[in-house]
Amino acid sequence: MSSAADTYRGALDAVDRLVNRGGEADDLLRAVVDLLHDGFSHYSWIGIYFVEDGELVLGPWKGPQATEHVRIPVGEGVCGAAAASGRTEVVDDVNADPRYLACFPSTRSEIVVPVTYDGRVVAEIDVDSDEPAAFGDEDRAFLERVATLISPYCLVGWDTGGEPWGESAAAPGDPQR
Ligand code: SME
Repeated sequence: MSSAADTYRGALDAVDRLVNRGGEADDLLRAVVDLLHDGFSHYSWIGIYFVEDGELVLGPWKGPQATEHVRIPVGEGVCGAAAASGRTEVVDDVNADPRYLACFPSTRSEIVVPVTYDGRVVAEIDVDSDEPAAFGDEDRAFLERVATLISPYCLVGWDTGGEPWGESAAAPGDPQR
């Protein structure tokens, strides 16, 4: 019988395979976002923000709806706090955290994992859950490993980005985006 640990290990192996296959950074990062969103039912919405001139700029994302927070100043919100400190933020109850910037009424908890390259925060992985206190030590360890694996690709996004990835970049007809 497969355990939760097997699920995380399997997903990490899948991310590792994607990274080792290489290719364009935007395709790779979008594939990783899709894999994470589809692999865990408690990952209701997931996005990667790139750090750009003191702001977080939304890159690839997947979830039931778009967020209005496509640019967040570093230091603001839970996302901005993680970018400023370089440390993972886990919020068990978003409604009890005064830093929280609301995106979706259904969100109950959130995890934000910085992506560092060469000692600098270049991006972050943001996951919202509709379940309270959805993110435990396994999620933190797993997402921090994913962040390490994708960091060179995020640097490319950071270098060449500047504009939020809008819905126009989504696959046509994909209702999830
Ligand atoms: N909740 C985040 C904003 C981003 S949305 O969750 C997509 C925050 O407080 O920074």
